[in-house]
Amino acid sequence: MSNHRKITGVTRGRQPHVYAITISYASSSIAFLLLLICVSGADGSRIIGGRDAAPHSLPYMASVQLRGRHLCGGALVREDFVLTAAHCETRGIPTVVLGVDSLTGTEPTKQQFLVVKSFPHPGYDGHKNDIMLLKLNRRAQVSQAVQVISLKPGRLNQISQCITAGWGDIGDNNTLPKTLQEVNVTTLPHMICKRRWGQVPITQSMVCGVGSHSLQGFCSGDSGGPLVCDGDAAGVISFSGSRCGDPQTPDVYTRISSFRSWIQRVLNDN
Ligand SMILES: *[C@@H]1O[C@H](CO)[C@@H](O)[C@H](O)[C@H]1NC(C)=O
Ligand SMILES: *[C@@H]1O[C@H](CO)[C@@H](O)[C@H](O)[C@H]1NC(C)=O
Repeated sequence: MSNHRKITGVTRGRQPHVYAITISYASSSIAFLLLLICVSGADGSRIIGGRDAAPHSLPYMASVQLRGRHLCGGALVREDFVLTAAHCETRGIPTVVLGVDSLTGTEPTKQQFLVVKSFPHPGYDGHKNDIMLLKLNRRAQVSQAVQVISLKPGRLNQISQCITAGWGDIGDNNTLPKTLQEVNVTTLPHMICKRRWGQVPITQSMVCGVGSHSLQGFCSGDSGGPLVCDGDAAGVISFSGSRCGDPQTPDVYTRISSFRSWIQRVLNDN
C-alpha cells in the first residue's frame, strides 16, 4: 500500500540543520541492518510479528477503500463515523467496509458504506495532528460483527499493554494477509520514544508503542487503524521508521486523548 508514512531520514545526531544530508547515512545503515537480518534469518510475519485475529473479535475495525482497494484501517466510533488518520485522505470518494475478517471473501456480516464527508484535523501538517473522521452515508447496523468502540477515558499510563490491528503488509515487502491481523503493543514513556527518534519531533499528542520482540508492529496499509488499550481506542496508527516493527524507531500513534474535544465537536455538529 502506498499510503503509509515511513519516515526515512532518521538519525540520532544532534544537528537538525544537516537533516537532508544525513538521510543517506541513515539509509545506508538501514540497508546494512537489513542485510544482517537476512543473514541471521530473523523472521517478521503478520501485521509484522502478529497473529490472525479471531474472526469478528475486533468488531470496530474498518477498512477504508478507494475503488474497491484497501487503503487504510479505521475504527467505528459512532454508528455513522469512522476514525482514521489524516494522511489517509484521498482525492476520490472512499468507501468503508465493516464486519469482515477477510477483505476478499463474501461474508454475510459485511456492511459497506460511502463516505459522505471527510474531516481531516485542520492542524494536520504532514506530521502532527494525524487524525481524521469520516462520516458514512448511513448508520451501521450494530451486530456481533459490527460494533462501536469507545474512546479511552483519561490519559494512558506511560507503559500500557495494548493491541493494534490491520490488513496491512505482513512482511514489509507488500505481502498482504488473508485475514485481519493483530499484535500486542506496549506503549513507551514519551522521553524514551523521543530519544529514539532523534531529530524527528515526537509531540505530546503522539504515543509510541513497540512489540515484545523486534519486528513487531504496524506496517504499510495499517495506517489509520486503532491502538486499543483495555478495549478502548487510545491511538491512531500514524507513522513508523523505514523498517516496519523496528524498536529503534518505535511505531507512532496519534494520541486520541489530545483530540477528544475536537472529535466531540465534529460528532456533535454532524
Ligand atoms: C516477505 O517477507 C516474508 C517475511 O519476511 C517472507 O516470508 C516472504 O517470503 C516475503 N515475500 C516476498 C514476496 O518477498
Ligand atoms: C498479548 O497480550 C495478552 C493480554 O495482555 C496476553 O494474554 C497474550 O499472551 C499476549 N500474546 C502474545 C503473543 O504476547
